[in-house]
Amino acid sequence: MAIEKKKERILVVDDSPQTLELIRRNLESAGYQVFTAKSVAEAIRTFEANPVDLVITDLKMPEVSGMDLVKHIRDNYTDTEVMMITGYPSVESAVEAVKTGAEEYLTKPFTDEELFSTVRRTLDKLHIRRAGQARLQKIASAPYGLIGESAAMHKVFNMIAKASSTSATVLITGESGTGKELVARAIHYSSSRASAQFVPVNCAAIPGELLESELFGHVKGAFTGAIESRAGFFQTADGGTIFLDEISDTGLTMQAKLLRVLQDKEVCMVGSTHSRKVDVRILAATNKDLLSLVKKGTFREDLYYRLNVITIDLPPLRDRGDDILLLINYFVNKFGKDLEKPVPRFSENALQALRNYHWPGNVRELENVVQRLVVMTDSDFIETSDLPSLMRFSALSKTSFDRTLAEVEVEYIQNVLTSVDGNRTKAAKILGIDRKTLRDKLKKTPDIK
Ligand SMILES: Nc1ncnc2c1ncn2[C@@H]1O[C@H](COP(=O)(O)OP(=O)(O)OP(=O)(O)O)[C@@H](O)[C@H]1O
Ligand SMILES: [Mg+2]
Repeated sequence: MAIEKKKERILVVDDSPQTLELIRRNLESAGYQVFTAKSVAEAIRTFEANPVDLVITDLKMPEVSGMDLVKHIRDNYTDTEVMMITGYPSVESAVEAVKTGAEEYLTKPFTDEELFSTVRRTLDKLHIRRAGQARLQKIASAPYGLIGESAAMHKVFNMIAKASSTSATVLITGESGTGKELVARAIHYSSSRASAQFVPVNCAAIPGELLESELFGHVKGAFTGAIESRAGFFQTADGGTIFLDEISDTGLTMQAKLLRVLQDKEVCMVGSTHSRKVDVRILAATNKDLLSLVKKGTFREDLYYRLNVITIDLPPLRDRGDDILLLINYFVNKFGKDLEKPVPRFSENALQALRNYHWPGNVRELENVVQRLVVMTDSDFIETSDLPSLMRFSALSKTSFDRTLAEVEVEYIQNVLTSVDGNRTKAAKILGIDRKTLRDKLKKTPDIK
């Protein structure tokens, strides 16, 4: 049995019966299923009974205008595109139509070809958007609370599973904000040490001279102010895991002491002459290239090899493909819930811009951007224009060919200006034009900042 492809459904709204009939016949002959309505009220009734993919509405109609219909559909139905027909070719009404949410507009009189190509383009956009939303809505699997389905993250999950089944030292590397601490916690809480303490220590935040007593503790009188003995992080972590974050920020003396702990499994409190056995698993993290520090002589080679029994290298976010979309979905829901706000939807272009952006601050940066968007946006629809400017420009690499040369030029000039912090002399040089030409172009397009 042949499977018949489901017809795309279109609702046409126009107060002129002749226009309605003409468009209906044309679209039906092109293979669409068509519904018609002579007023906005009738359109809404028809629409509610028969949800459609596309609404084509006339702008000027007695009683309620097409603009109100566009607004009604945009506010209430996210899965339908809208196209406006206007008999009065004014830029204002076209701009307003598009601002209100019409995806395309067509000016009367139009040829059959213009009708078909505009309808096709609008429906294609709908399908791209649906595919994007479907990707967003896919429930992300989150082993260990880490969101990610990319091959790169699957490798990480496998490494976490391996690391959890041993007590070996693990070195976790990766750019800032890639989730190193989350991975350390994942290892601890899925290991046999889960019921004992996980003790994170940020080696960069503790001044060098304090680090030793913070880590190993001190005995009474060890130094001025040591009025009584105090345990250190290693004693607290006994039976559990210590996470030495930013390990590259420790000095060479401290490194020698850590090496001894790793070799002998015992620590010596500051001011004491006895070492005491501890059962602590060590996880360490760094966003630096430790090997190059070893070559420079600022990191001990023997410690490097002791730490590096298992290495988990976290990929930068930009190399995780669609994980970016899963994370956006995860954070937008999380912050929406926290702030008791409706969860906003993203336009396909906005998603594309976020997907293309290079995310130097990785997941932490993405988390912050989404949080700011949820806090700042009152609308339930986030468009490219709502994004921070750095991200807006990453939309430039989109592949659809629907922009005029003038639009591309404006965006490119803006992009170059941003990259040189608004310095017009430098921008003109990069653009290969003189300052005066640049000034004239800027005068013509006041939106460029
Ligand atoms: N895969 C992920 N899924 C969900 N949240 C994540 C993921 N990776 C990171 N995060 C979140 O991103 C933020 C940064 O993660 P984390 O602190 O673990 O990064 P880091 O690599 O230790 O960063 P830094 O180098 O700056 O210390 C945290 O809020 C964390 O919860
Ligand atoms: Mg960290």
